[in-house]
Amino acid sequence: MKKQIIIIDYGSQYTLLIARTILELGYNCHVVSYDEASQFLTGNHLPKFVILSGGDKSVYAPGAPTLPEDLELTGKPYHVLGVCYGMQLLAHNFGGKVERDSNKSGYGPETIYSISDQNPYPESTAWMSHGDSVTVMPNGFYNHIITLDGTIAGITNESKTITGVQFHPEVSQTVYGKEFLKQLIVNAGCIPDWNPEEIIQQKRDEISKKYDISKKVLLGLSGGVDSSVTAALLAPLFGENLHAIIIDHGGLRQGERDEAIAIATELGVSFEVVDLADEFIAKISAIDRTNSQDYAEDMRKVFGKDLYKKIFEQKSIEIGASYIAQGTNAADLTESGKKGNSALIKSHHNVNLQFSLPEILPIDDLYKYQIRQIGKDLGLPEEIYNREPFPGPGLYLRIADAQVTRERLELVRQADHIVRSILRAHGLVEHISQLVIALLGCRVVGVRGDERAYDMPISIRAVVTTDFMTVEPFFFEKNVIQEITSKLTKIPGVSRVMFDYTPKPPGTTEYQ
Ligand code: XMP
Repeated sequence: MKKQIIIIDYGSQYTLLIARTILELGYNCHVVSYDEASQFLTGNHLPKFVILSGGDKSVYAPGAPTLPEDLELTGKPYHVLGVCYGMQLLAHNFGGKVERDSNKSGYGPETIYSISDQNPYPESTAWMSHGDSVTVMPNGFYNHIITLDGTIAGITNESKTITGVQFHPEVSQTVYGKEFLKQLIVNAGCIPDWNPEEIIQQKRDEISKKYDISKKVLLGLSGGVDSSVTAALLAPLFGENLHAIIIDHGGLRQGERDEAIAIATELGVSFEVVDLADEFIAKISAIDRTNSQDYAEDMRKVFGKDLYKKIFEQKSIEIGASYIAQGTNAADLTESGKKGNSALIKSHHNVNLQFSLPEILPIDDLYKYQIRQIGKDLGLPEEIYNREPFPGPGLYLRIADAQVTRERLELVRQADHIVRSILRAHGLVEHISQLVIALLGCRVVGVRGDERAYDMPISIRAVVTTDFMTVEPFFFEKNVIQEITSKLTKIPGVSRVMFDYTPKPPGTTEYQ
């Protein structure tokens, strides 16, 4: 599809946030790796706006990624914005100097202000995340934004077609970031073009062309946003040939299996519940934690390859399916190191399983915020399209740095249910994007009755976010903290409760 806006990805986790922000502004954009970008910068369908996103290298480092060969930096035919590393690349290219100066590096909020009447920018907070800075201005550019300590934060070329910013306009902490991006997009001549209805039609057309819709397809339905949207996209095409399986792997939250059944019923999809709790618990708890270099990754691998994959292979043979459909989304691919230049953060259970049947992944180029919009447009109820995400491996991921056992799964399930009920009673659930209740594998001393007790603490982590690439903590009032602590410490084996207020980065949403 022709895209007006291209984001060239240099490996920053912020790239997706830029894409999300642009979408929220009503424009479609395409994220492409820097080494594949040239094909989008040549030919008849050129973009109108090219964004060079951030990365973790220094422009002088050996092997550091460079500007694509075909990138036109004359101000024609498209406008260019460099963000962070992108700005440093531009500065370097035009004869400026980029240096590492620990006094000038910035991580977190900083005040920036305008020093030019030509591109006024209000004095305000902006989000920084950089070690290197531009210290000598590139030729043909002027400096229009600086930080309080004088770091160059914004540069523009004389014809105002190439801009570079050291701060992150896409992060919500950058107060005027969205307006700033919008202005540049409008200046580049882009026309709003994100339209969920068209995307749905386009997805369905693509699927009908690529796959034989008279054949059977097996879909994994967890009841989450991604698999529900996948079901709703496929149902009108495959009709009775769409078969869903709801896998109970023993790590579901209380009541979750019934919720998935209700969703499948609501969607009118034929389904079967596959009860594999015993098998999953046995396999996962058999992983030798003490000899494992990365227990969480091993657990995800067993979950994906040894269990999940097998069930799909087996069920597809049973029903005579020709395809396997999954609700894998773009962030799953990114975090699993399968998209662009992002490093492996976590291997998602539904990525790269190499099934013997062709996979249908209708939403693997979309992020959660886009999938929610598509779900809304597909007419799904709000409880579904706005549903809190829950990881495929479920409560298994919520036992951190301790051997998984049936009892521990049960404990986390009970704690999760208690905390959720309290938050629901206080009307807080809709303010929280995801709630993680986890058992942390360190024994801490407590006192119960007259006895010393060594138990693992329960951690409560409530976060607010739209894309899960960054998260903010949700802070509880004292009375809620007290109520949660009091109820949880009544569970045998729980003598301590922790509240985790770490943002992402640096902490991820899950503990592993
Ligand atoms: P993190 O912990 O990376 O999580 O901030 C971002 C989002 O992804 C979910 N998550 C997973 N989902 N399989 C999944 O299906 C996984 O292995 C997995 N790990 C994390 C997490 O719950 C959050 O919504």
